[in-house]
Amino acid sequence: MSQGPITIAGLCGSLRKASFNRMALAHFAKSLPEGARLVPVEIGEFPLYNQEILDAGVPAPVAQARDAIHAADAVTIATPEYNYSTSGVLKNAIDWLSRTTPQPFAAKPIALLGASAGLFGTGRAQYHLRQIFVFLDGRPINKPEVMIGTAQQKFSPDGTLNDELAVKLIKDLAANLVREVHRFRAAAAVSG
Ligand SMILES: Cc1cc2nc3c(=O)[nH]c(=O)nc-3n(C[C@H](O)[C@H](O)[C@H](O)COP(=O)(O)O)c2cc1C
Repeated sequence: MSQGPITIAGLCGSLRKASFNRMALAHFAKSLPEGARLVPVEIGEFPLYNQEILDAGVPAPVAQARDAIHAADAVTIATPEYNYSTSGVLKNAIDWLSRTTPQPFAAKPIALLGASAGLFGTGRAQYHLRQIFVFLDGRPINKPEVMIGTAQQKFSPDGTLNDELAVKLIKDLAANLVREVHRFRAAAAVSG
């Protein structure tokens, strides 16, 4: 973390190319205020968590993601909802990252958003993430909550988001995340 341009590590909990969450994350990136940019962090090459693998050394894709998140000012996560929770892919990634040093989510502002086929737009998945980040000492932004339901009706195949409310909420979330980074930077400058 520096006083220069703001970097935000972006994680997507879906691995499919045509993922609505990948589209939502890309839209979030475009909605960031000037001076802030999103750095995508890939989690698809993480092995399934197994402490014996960790004992032999942090796998390279995990170490790379940890370093990118640690170096970033903040994190944004776009999560799908699988069976009323977050995806196994994302949980596996968080589990891996939580066992690395420095634990990269600690004291980090985190913006959550999600897109799903159902009406609730990943609300249940997002509340599970909020619970996880209590233990990991992440700092999720409370408002606005961005839950894009019936995503198949709101995104064009090229990734354009055609829902006015979702567009506004993502813009507000991006602004609030960056505002929080500025607050963190100011507090860090005071405490030296
Ligand atoms: C295993 C599985 C479980 C799912 N469970 C839910 C669910 O609980 N709620 C929901 O709204 N959609 C559910 N869906 C549908 C997803 O919302 C939909 O597949 C969505 O497009 C996934 O996100 P993505 O487009 O980013 O891959 C589920 C899909 C899968 C594959």
